[in-house]
Amino acid sequence: MRKILVLTGGGDCPGLNTVIRAIVKSAHEQKDVEVFGSIEAYNGLLRSPQEIVKLTNKEVAGIHVKGGTIIGTTTKGGPFGFPTQMEDGSWQELDRSDETVAMIKDMGFHCVISIGGDGSQAISQKLYEKGMPVIGVPKTIDNDLSATDYTFGFQTAVQEATTAVDKLVSTAESHHRVMILEVMGRNAGWIATHAAIAGGAEVCLIPEIPYDINKVKEKIESRYKDGKGFVIVVIAEGAFQKDGQITSKESDEIGYENVRLGGVAHQLTEQLKRAGCTADIREMILGHLQRGGTPNSFDRVLATLYGVKALELALSNDFGKMVIFKDHEINAVPIKDAIDSYNTVEPNGYMVGTGKSVGISFGD
Ligand code: F6P
Repeated sequence: MRKILVLTGGGDCPGLNTVIRAIVKSAHEQKDVEVFGSIEAYNGLLRSPQEIVKLTNKEVAGIHVKGGTIIGTTTKGGPFGFPTQMEDGSWQELDRSDETVAMIKDMGFHCVISIGGDGSQAISQKLYEKGMPVIGVPKTIDNDLSATDYTFGFQTAVQEATTAVDKLVSTAESHHRVMILEVMGRNAGWIATHAAIAGGAEVCLIPEIPYDINKVKEKIESRYKDGKGFVIVVIAEGAFQKDGQITSKESDEIGYENVRLGGVAHQLTEQLKRAGCTADIREMILGHLQRGGTPNSFDRVLATLYGVKALELALSNDFGKMVIFKDHEINAVPIKDAIDSYNTVEPNGYMVGTGKSVGISFGD
């Protein structure tokens, strides 16, 4: 009997459960494979007592439609920096990577399938280099992994953002206001660009194109010529003004290593007012609504393709690989290549070009 350990790491994302279900169900078809889940990424393995659960068809029945992850996840630390409270009450991040690799071997796991974004895949690669058999499954609503055309969760996030634009249009139109919708995406403007095109926004501001506030103001004013009008601005959380800085906040959460983005919509309002924009402006930060809830059908299919392929790689001992969806094919690439470069929106590419062709200003 071969034992596979599955874990989910990093921020949650619609479709995680769908991948878990696909792995478990396809393992069930193999007869000689058992699947286990480590709770909250590697925490379940490293905690004492351990938190490792057996996953059978019973546990995964119907979870493909559920948001979140039934085995939990974490954005805090990992085997290379495991947050640990010391006797004096202080917290330190301990390197427990060698122990992790040894545990996987000693507990008889054939391999680990790690479902996560760039941070989790970087951890997988380092553990792989230390001798741990691992397969990666790319996850993030940001769609910022270059090896794959799509990460699951992205399309669901875009749908949420588009629905928000559609709703904001009616209130913006009624009050002749500028409505600024801030969406997630970290340093990639994919969610913003897709939602702006799908929702018919007038302005789309993304990290890849630092904006000129006067150009944004001009676009807004062009919509108010007859004293009426309204404007929808979609802004990615990582967007910033030319010569300006990204809007971020410090995190006081122990072991949390990411830069916390958010709040650029309010900054934009301030900048517009300072530039002399007289329109009434309201902001809406969509936040984690983009990440919660049911994955849409595209993401369910993609997640299932990923799960089945990941198990196939695991059982053929094709370790150190990450599953990808490229050019309408399910495939795999070495994890080290997959984390090499980010997938960001090309300022001169077809998405921005198409947006501009239908009148969207990118603030440049
Ligand atoms: O990477 C996914 C993501 O949702 C980003 O778009 C966002 O900046 C970040 O995670 C939020 O992270 P957290 O849930 O830890 O605040």
